[in-house]
Amino acid sequence: MLRSVVLGTGSALPAKIVTNAELAATLDTSDEWIVQRTGIKQRHISSGFEETTSVLATRAAEAALASAGLTAADIDLIVLATATPDYTFPATATQVQYNLGITRGAAFDLQAVCSGFVYALSVADKMIVSGMHKRALVIGAETFSRILDWTDRTTCVLFGDGAGAVVIEAQSGTHSMSDRGVLTAHLRSDGRHREKLYVDGGPSATGTVGLLRMQGKEVFKHAVGMITDVIEAAYAATGLTSADIDWFVPHQANKRIIDASAEKLKIPPEKVVITVDIHGNTSAASIPLALDTAVKDGRIRKGHLVLLEAMGGGFTWGSVLVRM
Ligand code: ACO
Repeated sequence: MLRSVVLGTGSALPAKIVTNAELAATLDTSDEWIVQRTGIKQRHISSGFEETTSVLATRAAEAALASAGLTAADIDLIVLATATPDYTFPATATQVQYNLGITRGAAFDLQAVCSGFVYALSVADKMIVSGMHKRALVIGAETFSRILDWTDRTTCVLFGDGAGAVVIEAQSGTHSMSDRGVLTAHLRSDGRHREKLYVDGGPSATGTVGLLRMQGKEVFKHAVGMITDVIEAAYAATGLTSADIDWFVPHQANKRIIDASAEKLKIPPEKVVITVDIHGNTSAASIPLALDTAVKDGRIRKGHLVLLEAMGGGFTWGSVLVRM
């Protein structure tokens, strides 16, 4: 059987950093409030319209290719998760494909908001293990700063911009849990919750881009239950447990949600990768950004069992277990 093996990771962040104190200069908020409720200390914000989602995505993809020891010519699939595409169409993935000089295979965007990377990795995995494609770039890239209401302190302090990417390749596996590669993936959605976290514009409904609106308490209330649901599904499908996990790389929305989920799953804090403090919530980019951070600093190594999970607008949620 085929497995989708991670060959490399990469990420990209806008140069501009905005601290909580800088936000507090123009908004009725404080560093203390933001840190205590969310764990966020700073976020990267893209400058002007030069640093678009595709620009960040291309930089992350190039870094992932370099870390895999591959070139763009080796890639025959790009799946890009984003809720903040450069344009309504064509897909931002095709702009990245063009930037990288790739003219073969397929490239498309996938929209599952903060669960986007988990969805994209799961979809790309299926396309790889079916034999349809050989090597994929799976990217999460966002410029959420474009869809924030910068006068709304209940939302604008939470998000940031960035991109992360992985390269996966079809390799033969033994179908055992000691194989390298994606071992299992579980995706869920429930549209009854669509109005708890949404953008109030779009091409068909309003003809505008719109701004992010969120009932923060409602999101919080559902997050831990949904996260544990898909992780327990991953354990049931593989026979693995929290004791087997080397690294937990959750979606980085809020440190309180991450801590509560890890505690419920009995994953000790020293196995949890946290980047929400320095990146804020970068939606679909948050998991590959966190993954790349922990690969680069030497924590995550070849053979490690890594648990990814996310929950976001829709609601959507999902988990992926991958042996690096
Ligand atoms: N600075 C100062 N005060 C604030 C701020 C702020 N930035 N934002 C809200 N407040 C005030 C509120 O107005 C309220 O004041 P009041 O009591 O006078 O009415 C008070 O703080 C408490 O507000 P709550 O909304 O009750 O605060 P809560 O403890 O619920 O924290 C938060 C808010 C951080 C948004 C929390 O609900 C949360 O993290 N929810 C999950 C959100 C999330 O993670 N979303 C993303 C997940 S999905 C995705 O990634 C797209």
